[in-house]
Amino acid sequence: MNAISSDKGTSPTGLTGTLTVPGDKSISHRALMIGALAVGETTITGLLEGEDVLATAAAMQQLGAEIEQKEGTWHVTGRGIGGLIEPAGVLDLGNSGTAARLLMGVLASHDLTATMTGDASLSSRPMERVMEPLRHIGAEFTARSGGQLPITITGTPSALPGDETLKVASAQVKSAILLAGLNAAGNTIVVEPRPSRDHTEKMLSFFGADVRSEENTDGSRKITLVGQPEITGRDIVVPGDISSAAFPIVAALITPGSDVTIENVGINPLRAGLLDSLSEMGADIEIKNTRDIAGEPVADLQVRASQLKGATIPASRAPAMIDEYPILAVAAACAEGTSIFEGVGELRVKESDRLAAMAEGLQECGVETAATEDTLTIYGTDKIPGKIAGGVTIASQLDHRIAMSYLVLGLASENPVTIDDGSPIETSFPGFLGLMNKLGATMAEAT
Ligand code: S3P
Repeated sequence: MNAISSDKGTSPTGLTGTLTVPGDKSISHRALMIGALAVGETTITGLLEGEDVLATAAAMQQLGAEIEQKEGTWHVTGRGIGGLIEPAGVLDLGNSGTAARLLMGVLASHDLTATMTGDASLSSRPMERVMEPLRHIGAEFTARSGGQLPITITGTPSALPGDETLKVASAQVKSAILLAGLNAAGNTIVVEPRPSRDHTEKMLSFFGADVRSEENTDGSRKITLVGQPEITGRDIVVPGDISSAAFPIVAALITPGSDVTIENVGINPLRAGLLDSLSEMGADIEIKNTRDIAGEPVADLQVRASQLKGATIPASRAPAMIDEYPILAVAAACAEGTSIFEGVGELRVKESDRLAAMAEGLQECGVETAATEDTLTIYGTDKIPGKIAGGVTIASQLDHRIAMSYLVLGLASENPVTIDDGSPIETSFPGFLGLMNKLGATMAEAT
């Protein structure tokens, strides 16, 4: 446990500078997994070297893929679809829901048995949502009661193609079914209630698979993957993670005088809902140099301190910004007027119960909030002096985004905000503290 404190600092110029953030976590996991299933060598530059992704790399090695890092580039020699081997030991996915759920899909159509485990946070997260559709294609699972990790999966070499209509818009569940479908004869079909991030579809196409998406008139989306494609090694460039950029973005918006540019950020529209929400709240964010890299849209973002106002964020936007609600809650706490986040029940089953973590932690810092099972209301303070009192220690609950969100709130609070444990930040944003301090923040180990 290393406690970290963040305070207002005294710089009249606020946060300034140009930076890049680490590679996109979702794309990094997928690059390693799909690279391990492709024939030949895949190179990956810009891979997120955070604990979550390193857990995926270690698991793919245990499953027989050759993976090494040379001078900043990752080289993956794949085994071909269906070619992974039974691991000798347990696969430890640490804190990573994406690693665990996507890997279940990969293994579901392999002729092997493997056991997965994770930390206390991952071992309390729901896995039935992914096991159920994978059972339909022939995989078998033994799980702890409640369908939680540790879980043993026995895959099948003769998987049936999936045909699933999902209840939740979950990119992890969708991706698990599609990855299982790589080794099934025939078309795998997934219908999601609302479009969720499409990195798996984009990357499978980039590797040479036939994946098609159709939007339905009711807002749902149907994805069809043709099974047993020839996928061959590719050169992947991972853009900066918008979910990590979110922290310096909101930090700059709420710190008077700030002017920060974040270069090379992935702005896939199914991930960039935060930018729409902040813009509705009055944020000054310029999207510059939009370009396409390895099948993903990328841009530079210039962010200036702004007078924010409250907004109602509709449930329909949740899939496009699901990981950004904790930091948006910090922006809302600093805004003038009330913000309402609708249809955010999924936040309760993330690395922590993020709805409760924000509702309760903000209250402790002096910001009024109200929560229902799937709504969060934040009564903005307009940063009126004294309103965000701070001076408290918040439990980060093995949740990187809760930890970083409260450190950003410290920039706008009267007294420092401390998190009890900064180590979860390593899962997604190695170097966070150094980078924020370089911009002018004051974040340091608490004494
Ligand atoms: C992710 C999907 C989302 C997101 C997670 C990463 C992915 O989870 O919260 O951080 O890479 O597919 P759900 O699929 O549970 O919504």
